[in-house]
Amino acid sequence: MRRESVGHTLLVAFLLCVVCSTLVSGAAYLLKDRQAANVVIEVQKNILSAAGIYDEEKHNRSDVPELYEKHIVDLIVELDTGRIVEPSELGFESAVDFNQFKAASDPELSRKLTSEEDIAIIKHRENYSHVYRVKNTDGSLGKIVLPMRGYGLWSTLYGFISLDADGQTIRGLTFYDHKETPGLGGEVDNPKWKSQWSDPDETKYVYGPDGNVQIEVTKAGGVSNDPEKRKHQVDGLSGATITTRGVSYLLEFWLGPLGFKNYLEQVQSSETSGE
Ligand SMILES: Cc1cc2nc3c(=O)[nH]c(=O)nc-3n(C[C@H](O)[C@H](O)[C@H](O)COP(=O)(O)O)c2cc1C
Repeated sequence: MRRESVGHTLLVAFLLCVVCSTLVSGAAYLLKDRQAANVVIEVQKNILSAAGIYDEEKHNRSDVPELYEKHIVDLIVELDTGRIVEPSELGFESAVDFNQFKAASDPELSRKLTSEEDIAIIKHRENYSHVYRVKNTDGSLGKIVLPMRGYGLWSTLYGFISLDADGQTIRGLTFYDHKETPGLGGEVDNPKWKSQWSDPDETKYVYGPDGNVQIEVTKAGGVSNDPEKRKHQVDGLSGATITTRGVSYLLEFWLGPLGFKNYLEQVQSSETSGE
């Protein structure tokens, strides 16, 4: 075949495509395990960060496995009752084997939400969820880190909220996965915005005196001057009202009766009875 012929050009282009696609899929296959391990570390880092243990300035990613092992206890909770279940009840050896996102798409392990219930726009809610308890230095259980998710403008945001053992005082909030616009909705990752959730001078609280979820993310600049109202308000993201509203709704959902409220009530009563 002549080098200048159309057939030769097509053959070279075809062979180039085959070589490149083999290289790309080979790399994807070989890196699969490493990518999965990185996702686990990113999630663990966010749990530690929500709990105020991982400090970007003090730690790096290689510290995550040790910090996680030292400080975090992974439990599974039945959301409708708030009961802690043994992993074996669900057929798992350990809590880490339970994938709650997979459970959310299994009709046997989830509940289809009505449009009225589905304020976080997740369609199905799994019946069981992970709950992460933070070990104090004396070995007792302290803070509680709860996974949550909900729709913003372009995507589902996945994150964690950290509460004191009173189930009421907020200590941190992080998102580890979303596809909101950088600079707009993506500002949920901005350390300055996140610091509002862990500011010791402006502590925020989940529930109002009636026991209902009262924490909300206001429109940008919408936080009240009234200290009683401010206790339950966090300033929203400017130019990203829809993401802001999504964060507010996902908090209302996951801290409410279809989320962790039953579990948090049990924690509160065991804390106050000293169990
Ligand atoms: C390219 C583009 C990306 C946007 N990304 C977001 C976003 O991630 N989150 C969001 O709430 N609004 C985003 N918006 C703005 C929304 O369309 C909408 O105007 C905004 O949420 C209204 O908020 P505001 O009342 O604070 O302006 C985006 C707009 C454009 C044009």
